[in-house]
Amino acid sequence: MMKSLFAKELSPKETLEILTGGVSPRPIALVSTLSQDGKRNLAPFSFFNAFGSNPPIIAFSPARKTRDGGLKDTYNNLIQTKECVVQVVTYAMAKQVNVCSAEFKPGVDEFLESGLTPIPSLKVKPSRVKESPFQMECVLKQMVPLGEKPGSGNLAICEVLVFHIAESVTKNGVMHPDLLDLVARNGGHFYTRASGKALFELEKPPLPPS
Ligand SMILES: Cc1cc2nc3c(=O)[nH]c(=O)nc-3n(C[C@H](O)[C@H](O)[C@H](O)COP(=O)(O)O)c2cc1C
Repeated sequence: MMKSLFAKELSPKETLEILTGGVSPRPIALVSTLSQDGKRNLAPFSFFNAFGSNPPIIAFSPARKTRDGGLKDTYNNLIQTKECVVQVVTYAMAKQVNVCSAEFKPGVDEFLESGLTPIPSLKVKPSRVKESPFQMECVLKQMVPLGEKPGSGNLAICEVLVFHIAESVTKNGVMHPDLLDLVARNGGHFYTRASGKALFELEKPPLPPS
C-alpha cells in the first residue's frame, strides 16, 4: 500500500519532514557570509547542489523559518553583501557544523560558537573554514524567492570564483570520497557518512552503436 498525500492539505512542518526524509541524502553546504557591518556568520544548508560547470554554479536555499516565516541571517547577509564561501562538511566536522545550525541572534559569530577556524579568502570578504577540505569562494548571481510563507525557500544562485582543494583529499589529481569523508543529510536527525562501505562504483555505459 502507498500513502498518497495532497501537498495542499499538509502543514509546512509535515511537508518539510516528508521532503527531507524522502529527498535524501543531501549534500551539506556550510555557508560563510558577512553582515553589512562586517559580522561573521556561518550556517549549514542541505537544500544544496551544483547546477553547471561553465560558469561554475552552485545553489542553496536559506528558507523562511517554518515557525514564523522570518528570514535567516545568511539570506539577509547575501542580499546585503552578495558574497559567500560555501564549503563541504566532513565527518570530523559534523558536530561543530551542527552547533552552527542553532538559531543564534544576528551578529553572533558561529565560528566562535563552534570552534571552527576562519581563514582569509582570496576574492571575497567572508572567511573560509580551515577544517573543510573543499571551499568555494562565490558571488550571488540571483536570489529567487520561492514563496512568502513559513517554510518558503529562497534559491541563492551563486557563481564560484575560486575553488580551494586540500591536497590531502586528492588521489591521482582528483578528490577521492574515502579521503574527503563527507557527510550528507537525511530526514529527522539522520546523517549519511559517504565513505568506506557506503561507496560503490558503476562504469559509464558504452556509447550505443551508431
Ligand atoms: C545539516 C543541516 C542542514 C540544514 N539545511 C537547511 C536548508 O537547506 N535550508 C534552511 O533554511 N535551513 C537549513 N538548516 C537550518 C539552518 O542551518 C538554521 O536555520 C540556521 O540557524 C540558519 O542560520 P543563519 O540564521 O545564521 O543563516 C539546516 C541545518 C542543518 C543542521
